[in-house]
Amino acid sequence: MKPIESVPAPVPHRVACWRADFPILGERVHGCPLVYLDNGATTQKPASVIDAENAYYRHDNANVHRGVHLLSQRATDAYETARAKISRFINAQRPEEIVFVRGTTEAINLVAQSHARPRLEPGDEILISAMEHHSNIVPWQLVCEQTGAVLKVVPIDDTGALEVDAYERLLGRRTRLVAITHVANALGSINPVARIVAAAHARGVPVLLDGAQAISHLPIDVRALDCDFYAFSGHKIYGPTGIGVLYAKAALLEAMPPWQGGGDMIRTVTFEKTEYNAIPWKFEAGTPNIAGAIALGAALDYVGGIGMEIIAGHEADLLAYATDALQKMPEVRLIGTAHDKTSILSFVIDGVHAHDVGTILDRHGIAVRAGHHCAMPVMERYGVPATVRASFALYNTRDEVDALTAGLASVKEVFGQ
Ligand code: ALA
Repeated sequence: MKPIESVPAPVPHRVACWRADFPILGERVHGCPLVYLDNGATTQKPASVIDAENAYYRHDNANVHRGVHLLSQRATDAYETARAKISRFINAQRPEEIVFVRGTTEAINLVAQSHARPRLEPGDEILISAMEHHSNIVPWQLVCEQTGAVLKVVPIDDTGALEVDAYERLLGRRTRLVAITHVANALGSINPVARIVAAAHARGVPVLLDGAQAISHLPIDVRALDCDFYAFSGHKIYGPTGIGVLYAKAALLEAMPPWQGGGDMIRTVTFEKTEYNAIPWKFEAGTPNIAGAIALGAALDYVGGIGMEIIAGHEADLLAYATDALQKMPEVRLIGTAHDKTSILSFVIDGVHAHDVGTILDRHGIAVRAGHHCAMPVMERYGVPATVRASFALYNTRDEVDALTAGLASVKEVFGQ
């Protein structure tokens, strides 16, 4: 992991301004100020995001792409403007490469069913890694059951870094798709995705990147990465739940059949034959989450106004500060110490179950996630049933890290250590 001296200095005065944008940070929990360190699960929302959703329902609510009336036109404009913002945010070539979905999970299932399933033959291989979230494992297991394809898993080393040489060896004649996380949700490891994509493309294999944990911590440029698919959820980047994005290169989307049928994804329907809509609407059957898309656009405006590099620098400082503090506690064992990491600190305490740690921290107003983090194979890799995970966002501070370490000291007291 990077030493604490190598990361940029913190920017406390700016963080105080950012904090003021998040109404929930004024809450008290069990009589203590809220210390929200569960950002890997979901981030809190700035007032501008809450207001955007509220304003949509107060002033513009109507269905999209369907009405000639003014409200429908306003709703459609706002929805498509959000798509264009997302396209710019991740530097897609054009907005048509942005498909609105419920979240990362739905995006990956869409690719599994619509891109992979029609192409897979028995014995073909899908390559994932040992650090994946269940949402980047189970959709591939389903498609393997459906087609006779085989799931291959790239190992990770003891620090939680991908074994890139093993990855390159596993890329074989039968590999049809690589699906790998950009940042591991239970470990924080950042994968060398440009190298992963280049190696796959050298063999003509497309790559899906699960960006659920990366999107709020790293600047994302899908064209520079040259990935074929990139999936993320709005709620992990200060937007609402129930809205997410599948980015895919236009040519791939064009070649994929729709995966759900219904309204809006068609051009014409007769009982004999249906002609599908153009991309991306071909993949958006039914009334979409219009308010969610608009509010996600507001969230991207918010982080774009601060700057992803500035956010990444601040979070790198927090991670280094917290890592340093926890490494000084002999009973704490960090799980995930890769050199390239972001914003996630997973750990176990000798002799204390992670759930007990999480419960005691909660009594101090500190919210962390405790459990297997929907990454049971990662827990198995490290021989633990669960970890405690503190995960940082732009509004967290060094004082909150101090609150975490003080909370952990009280865990030790309760358990007589
Ligand atoms: N995927 C989310 C997490 O890692 C829920 O906590």
